[in-house]
Amino acid sequence: MAKKRILSGMRPTGPLHLGNLHGALANWKNMQDDYECFFFIADWHALTSDYDTTAPIQGYIMDVFIDWLSVGLSPDKCTLFVQSHIKEHAELFLLLSMITPLPWLERNPTYKEQIAELKNKDLSTFGFLGYPVLQAADIIIYKANGVPVGIDQAPHVELTREIARRFNHFYGDIFPIPETILTETPKILGIDRRKMSKSYNNAIYLSDSPDEVRDKVAQMITDPQRARRSDPGNPDVCNVFSFHQLYSDEQTVQRVDRECRHAEIGCVECKQLMAENLVKALAPVHEKRTYYETRPDTVRAIIEHGDQAARAVAVETMEQVRAAIRI
Ligand code: TRP
Ligand code: SF4
Repeated sequence: MAKKRILSGMRPTGPLHLGNLHGALANWKNMQDDYECFFFIADWHALTSDYDTTAPIQGYIMDVFIDWLSVGLSPDKCTLFVQSHIKEHAELFLLLSMITPLPWLERNPTYKEQIAELKNKDLSTFGFLGYPVLQAADIIIYKANGVPVGIDQAPHVELTREIARRFNHFYGDIFPIPETILTETPKILGIDRRKMSKSYNNAIYLSDSPDEVRDKVAQMITDPQRARRSDPGNPDVCNVFSFHQLYSDEQTVQRVDRECRHAEIGCVECKQLMAENLVKALAPVHEKRTYYETRPDTVRAIIEHGDQAARAVAVETMEQVRAAIRI
């Protein structure tokens, strides 16, 4: 039986962190053997909010791409590419914009939230309102069966389904209706116990050096109720413990759990223990990162290879689309 096709994308907003690793990336990696995978960098989508600061985007594309390769997304198994290199997305976006009712976009919860949240930014643009239409084009141009995304992106996939249905209704059955494949949110938080995010300045990056990792771990907020070394702690509410569960062996996890509850281990020591295990786990990622960072031409060739494979599919879909619309 043919493998199902999945597709997902990330905006190029700079290097990826452990939240991305245990969220989207881990999920993508797990899927690369069982699905025909298309993963791309949504650089046009970055423009919808950062249209006035475009200089860093090319560097961010390389950052993200190298992170993908370093954690083990394989160009032999998946099609890895850059959105703006496949101009067909723009053509389909234009055609879909003709059939997308404005109210569908205006009631999009993500749209309303972002407008309210990013007050210092003028987001009353055509492009920002049309963000989900471009995303729909990204997805259906590859006839994806599934879209692995976090819960924040679920409304966009829902809109994609509606737009694809509307297209099929007007012009004939060309597009499969893609399923949302929900990615579990990672259990780990940022060093300040908020959601790990670049904009909160609380993230540990895949590209952080061992000393940066140690330094950030030392700053991590632990069980807030544990004020003194002599107070017993509660690992269940401690973010450092969540990291232990991901990076330390079972024996260490059990020992920390017990000794924390009896005030037999201090947070400083507990963090050092975890930091060393985290540094060890990141070592192979760093090694690959160094390899690719010093070979930008190799990275560019991998991107070019992915672009070609993606383009072949997109070109074929667009031929069918033009024929269906008779234009
Ligand atoms: N909007 C997505 C995000 O911000 C990125 C994205 C663009 C995407 N096009 C996509 C994700 C298509 C899945 C499918 O994370
Ligand atoms: Fe958290 Fe470890 Fe401190 Fe317990 S000892 S509160 S698990 S950092």
